[in-house]
Amino acid sequence: MQVRSAVFVKSVADPSGLLKRPIPHFVFSGRSNVGKSSLLNCLLNRKGLAKTSRTPGKTRLLNYFLINDQFFFVDIPGYGFARVSKKEQEKWGRLIDTYLTDTPFIGSVFQLLDIRHDPTAQDRQMIEWLQQSDLSFRIILTKADKLSRNKIAQHRRNIAKSLGMDEGSLIATSSESGLGIREIWAFLNQAFEE
Ligand code: GTP
Ligand code: MG
Repeated sequence: MQVRSAVFVKSVADPSGLLKRPIPHFVFSGRSNVGKSSLLNCLLNRKGLAKTSRTPGKTRLLNYFLINDQFFFVDIPGYGFARVSKKEQEKWGRLIDTYLTDTPFIGSVFQLLDIRHDPTAQDRQMIEWLQQSDLSFRIILTKADKLSRNKIAQHRRNIAKSLGMDEGSLIATSSESGLGIREIWAFLNQAFEE
């Protein structure tokens, strides 16, 4: 697929602001700082479309990007950011839960994990939530450029094993080198053919 247009549409802080337009949503989920916004930009080849930052917790809102006037990429705020109050974490949980439960057009959720680390308790919680939902989801491993080729394979195997998943379903990516970007697009293209 060729990206002809990629436009920021809206930031949402509250469930009442969620969009109801009946086109597919592809969602970028994961721990704060895991590389959601960077991956989204890399897929679209648009630097700076989604704001990235070294400081975790940059994406505090749910951000919609409209691609080719045909589908949304949705950058959802990262969890696990220590400096967020309990009250704010609960608000986050409600927003994401409502979004994922009440949007009937979720094409797929990309659940991002840092390839260097074991999934955290919150990662596992999110993955379990996805597994018990009817949503389609894919595990995406980020920041692969920080590891050697051998280590990429080894970490991918270990993470798959610890999640009880098929290793082949995990996509190793890098927003720096572009590793895995074609594979994600192949998955997206397939989703549109179904
Ligand atoms: P929040 O918005 O806080 O939830 O974070 P995020 O998941 O959107 O992460 P973001 O894309 O802002 O990236 C966080 C930091 O990791 C930035 O300093 C990025 O440059 C860096 N980063 C993201 N992806 C990669 C990658 O593939 N390789 C390397 N080396 N760094 C990356
Ligand atoms: Mg972000």
